[in-house]
Amino acid sequence: MNPGNAQSPVPTGAVFRARGLVKSYQRGADTVTALDRVDLQLEYGEVVALVGPSGSGKSTLLNVLCGWERPDAGTLDWDDDLGGARADRMRWDQLAVVPQSLALLAELQGAENVLLPARTRKQIAQWTQPAGDLMERFGIDQLAKRLPDQMSLGEQQRCSVARALLLSPNLLLADEPTAHQDSGWTEVLFTAMRDLAAHHGACLIATHNPATWQYADRIVSMADGRLTEGAPADHI
Ligand SMILES: Nc1ncnc2c1ncn2[C@@H]1O[C@H](COP(=O)(O)OP(=O)(O)O)[C@@H](O)[C@H]1O
Ligand SMILES: [Mg+2]
Repeated sequence: MNPGNAQSPVPTGAVFRARGLVKSYQRGADTVTALDRVDLQLEYGEVVALVGPSGSGKSTLLNVLCGWERPDAGTLDWDDDLGGARADRMRWDQLAVVPQSLALLAELQGAENVLLPARTRKQIAQWTQPAGDLMERFGIDQLAKRLPDQMSLGEQQRCSVARALLLSPNLLLADEPTAHQDSGWTEVLFTAMRDLAAHHGACLIATHNPATWQYADRIVSMADGRLTEGAPADHI
């Protein structure tokens, strides 16, 4: 299923189908409904922008999809070709995440962080060149031997995106992946994510920057935990 594997058939259809996802948090006496009966399906080959104001539930949705949080209700069905696996048991070549926190490993150098998905498969030698190419494309090749705390936030973010893209995952979940980039690097990162989709990986990208919507095939909007198709009403 890895698009990088010429033996694999081109994947088609839905990567996942989420139906009626609900997630609430208790805050003192108040209940915050972060996800309110969310339905969403992503097809292989599409880039979907997940937009909405701060606090609308974008990160919660990504966290539920990648298995870091459990929904209170609803169903999440994965494509059979992903083994019907639970998201939190998927491999980096199936599901890759760019969390808002970036989640680089502080004790690993830049190139080691980017190569982490290959390391977990014991395939470092095979992926060293592709990792170097990706780092060069993202302008971080000079940082190969630097620790994350010796990089700017923007550079760390480009490292985190490179790590996620290295094995051409079936699905990329990215939470504000260009929040720390100027328009030039934003274009480079979105173009790389579009390239993944061109090889039939799907991308769900939370972004509050309308300038990035041009890179999406489809926009879904969140407001108060509700998800609707299309750009928010105040942007149409
Ligand atoms: N762990 C948590 N505990 C309590 N409330 C939370 C938690 N995570 C998110 N929330 C609340 O859920 C709502 C949606 O948050 P979030 O998904 O982070 O929105 P967004 O990513 O769109 O900014 C917000 O009101 C937020 O404060
Ligand atoms: Mg968020």
